[in-house]
Amino acid sequence: MAYADVYGAWKNDPEGFWMEAAQAIDWDKTPSKALFDDNAPLYEWYSDGMVNTCWNAVDRHVEAGKGNQTAIIYDSPVTHTKREISYFELRNRVANLAGALRAKGVEKGDRVIIYMPMVPEALEAMLACARLGAVHSVVFGGFAAHELAVRIDDCKPKCIIAASCGIEPGRVVHYKPLLDGAIEQSSHKPDFCVIFQREQEVAHLEEGRDYNWHGFQYGVQPADCVPVEGNHPAYILYTSGTTGQPKGVVRSTGGHLVALNWSMKNIYNVDPGDVFWAASDVGWVVGHSYICYGPLIHGNTTIVFEGKPVGTPDAGTFWRVMSEHKVKSFFTAPTALRAVKREDPKGEFIQKYDLSNLKAVYLAGERADPDTIEWAQNQLGVPVIDHWWQTETGWAIASNPAGIEKLPIKLGSPSVAMPGHDVQVLDEGGHPLPAGELGAIAIKLPLPPGTLQTLWNAEARYKKSYLEHFPGYYETGDAGYIDDDGYLYIMARTDDVINVAGHRLSTGGMEEVLAAHPDVAECAVIGVGDQLKGQLPLGFLCLTAGVNRPHADIVKECVKLVRDQIGPVAAFKLACVVDRLPKTRSGKILRGTMVNIADGKEFKMPATIDDPVILDEIAAALKTLGYANAD
Ligand code: COA
Ligand code: AMP
Repeated sequence: MAYADVYGAWKNDPEGFWMEAAQAIDWDKTPSKALFDDNAPLYEWYSDGMVNTCWNAVDRHVEAGKGNQTAIIYDSPVTHTKREISYFELRNRVANLAGALRAKGVEKGDRVIIYMPMVPEALEAMLACARLGAVHSVVFGGFAAHELAVRIDDCKPKCIIAASCGIEPGRVVHYKPLLDGAIEQSSHKPDFCVIFQREQEVAHLEEGRDYNWHGFQYGVQPADCVPVEGNHPAYILYTSGTTGQPKGVVRSTGGHLVALNWSMKNIYNVDPGDVFWAASDVGWVVGHSYICYGPLIHGNTTIVFEGKPVGTPDAGTFWRVMSEHKVKSFFTAPTALRAVKREDPKGEFIQKYDLSNLKAVYLAGERADPDTIEWAQNQLGVPVIDHWWQTETGWAIASNPAGIEKLPIKLGSPSVAMPGHDVQVLDEGGHPLPAGELGAIAIKLPLPPGTLQTLWNAEARYKKSYLEHFPGYYETGDAGYIDDDGYLYIMARTDDVINVAGHRLSTGGMEEVLAAHPDVAECAVIGVGDQLKGQLPLGFLCLTAGVNRPHADIVKECVKLVRDQIGPVAAFKLACVVDRLPKTRSGKILRGTMVNIADGKEFKMPATIDDPVILDEIAAALKTLGYANAD
């Protein structure tokens, strides 16, 4: 079947399409139907089925005789470690961990926060939660204590599983003090913590609260898989919105299993047994869907890579891992390839490795610039496929469905809508726009299985953020257009979310931190274009009257504040002091105009601007930061 046939099959009979896809999953009780729409516009999938994610990701492969197949390859250039874990071993490790968690009181529906670097134990912790029907929330290691505290207070975990440390090139990230600090700051306190002690750092354990990962598993009965309802939350994953309060995306179990399993063959074109590698982090949605769950549910071998595209030790790391472990499909962020290209433009490292197993490279997380795609295609000789999705959707909204049909690649486009997604471009009034016209990208409801069901403890916010602006649609927050062939083009965000090295960050969240500095009266953070990371945050600070300390000191303190409060991942290093911010007459800060000035782009003077002279002051300030085109 061609892509058009598969997409058409879904469109003609969505219920039949998703019930058929559901047959690839082992249900304890088969659902009577796919879509549950009684509570529209809040939709659910497979709600009356009973199923367990860990069973589908691990145990069933062992039962099917594939216990000796490698489930996880751990490749860690930063610790010089390589290790393989078979499905059989993974089943036993996860069952033991789940048993130990259960013995300490973790049950179906309890929340568990996981704060761990890229080690196989992070996946084991996720799977152990899934085994019990507990709801995990993984927090990215690059977030600081305050961000962790916000998540603890929102999802109120019974338990936190953390590692003693993470390894960044040139430094050890001390997780334990961050964890202790977060628990101190949060109002909610977990009953207990489990600490995976790494040999690079053995953390101090607090008597009565903290347990050693190994010690607390001794003598405990392994746990069996607990069947849960199809609409039971599998996990909560926090993502940036317009404010400092992150949004807790809730993924439900049944749809998650069906959609990810479907995507592995149809989008990533791998068969069970093939090696699939997503070079991301378990703290992001890519890590959830395509380091942990997708490949394991589908019976692939997944790679847990603890390293960077460059510097660990060199720009050949990706190619070494691919050739050594016979990777068939590879997924990363465009930033990672840009970093490699910058260090090895001629692809000399690529020539050193046998990449004959590699069939395709997938890019997502940010806009993939045509230069990078072309470079990678020429160097690797395989299709480089841009695909577009979000934490909220959990899998690709648009892609080139290589497992169905390899459509022509159009540079700058993540190709076409995947089954389940009726993607439309709307004008401000919510009317569909003709091909080629730029507007807000929205998806007609219901969203397909595997997408978010709601926001944790925030149904009203879910409706307000995504469903109310365009009734009958899910608002993606991205703007773009669709061409005559149905190819999508994602051009910009419609909100204040920025994308730094494929990491989604809230400028509003950074402004909240800066505004708390005693000398800052008002501020704005914008995302400016960056050759390597796509965007970088840049802050403008207006000082409180009477403050006459050196500006450089205040800027330094502000940079430190963002790093301490949000974390190094915010990559907030650029800020300047200005007298005033450009605003509309109604007082709205003209962030978009400031971005255009910084990026040296032409722009129309906003008709509602209060005082155009301020734009000259902004341009002058930007020049001091090295934005020479800012005129
Ligand atoms: N734990 C603690 N700190 C972390 C971290 C983690 N898991 N991940 C990143 N950081 C820190 C980095 O050490 C860096 O700190 P620094 O300011 O002290 O240098 C900071 O956060 C910013 O990190 P990053 O934006 O990743 O930049 P970098 O300079 O360390 O690396 C690249 C540049 C291009 C190599 C890197 O951005 C990269 O690999 N990008 C790919 C992104 C990706 O895979 N995204 C996932 C979405 S699919
Ligand atoms: P995240 O939730 O972190 O995955 O970020 C999702 C956002 O990243 C999207 O809403 C887009 O703004 C951006 N994004 C992700 N993939 C792409 C892509 N292929 N092209 C352009 N933007 C993308």
